Amino acid sequence: MVARAQSDTRLADLRARLENSLEILPDKPLETAETTFAALAHLAAGNPMGIYRSQQQALPDLDEAAMERLKDLVEKRLSGIPLAHLTGRQDFMGLEFLSSAQALIPRRETEILGRSALEVVVDIAQQQAQVDVLDVCCGMGNILLSILNQEASARGFGSDISVEAVALAQRNAVHLQLEDRVTFRAGDLFNPFDEDAFLSFFDIITCNPPYISAKNVGAMPSEISEHEPRLAFDGGPFGIGILYRLIKEAVRFLKPGGWLCFEVGLGQGPPMLKRMNNQTDWANVSTVADEAGAPRCIAAQIK
Ligand SMILES: C[S@@+](CC[C@H](N)C(=O)[O-])C[C@H]1O[C@@H](n2cnc3c(N)ncnc32)[C@H](O)[C@@H]1O
Repeated sequence: MVARAQSDTRLADLRARLENSLEILPDKPLETAETTFAALAHLAAGNPMGIYRSQQQALPDLDEAAMERLKDLVEKRLSGIPLAHLTGRQDFMGLEFLSSAQALIPRRETEILGRSALEVVVDIAQQQAQVDVLDVCCGMGNILLSILNQEASARGFGSDISVEAVALAQRNAVHLQLEDRVTFRAGDLFNPFDEDAFLSFFDIITCNPPYISAKNVGAMPSEISEHEPRLAFDGGPFGIGILYRLIKEAVRFLKPGGWLCFEVGLGQGPPMLKRMNNQTDWANVSTVADEAGAPRCIAAQIK
């Protein structure tokens, strides 16, 4: 071990570096200088973990080599590499997922959709033995696998246009020991499941689609634009291309009375709500708001 006093000073210096220079993105509210420091210290000690677990454990003792690794990790984080890419872990709905540059890092705000969809799934599970869930635009599989983890009668199907994201989702299924209840396929929106067996089949479809306008994607902070796949954000010229396709195409795949739950961007809730209320396919259209009162999730039942 590095001599205690010397080691304490070096740790304090690294912590201060983070406190003074780390820029935290508003959509990663759990990341602070303190939580970042703890997660990086555990990683430097050879024990990668997400923020949640790193907060539950005492800081590790670091030998000279680990101290050098921590210094390097702090500089990498300050250069804009996301914490989840350094640790290879990201927390979502109380679970720790494997994370990489191949898929979007799940955001805290998406737990609004995850929890709303889980409520619907649990409700359906009271009435039938098995609940079939389709998650389109599944990314690393965080929404779907969180639902399967909480509801044992749920069976999951996930798709994403990114082959790399689907590969990561599959790794997460194994990591969380849920692989027996889930099928991931790569392809455009519903295409991977567009076969007779899946028409009018699903009890619930979930989706967190890309919904940022192409122009605004270009203006995102470099921590996002340089490290996360553009495909995960770019919703076309007005940001609504995939959202419109979702509400149109989901109709063929839902059982009568089945649910569609999806995330919308800031400002997109009211127009999407109006659009769905104006369509004859949907009933019980409602929104779920974030802490600031902005609608971020829409749920609707197919007639
Ligand atoms: C906002 S991310 C959501 C990821 C994950 N579900 C989450 O909530 O953290 C959107 C995802 O949609 C995928 N995607 C983009 N266009 C798509 C399309 N046309 N069909 C299927 N997936 C698409 C991206 O690859 C990305 O993984």
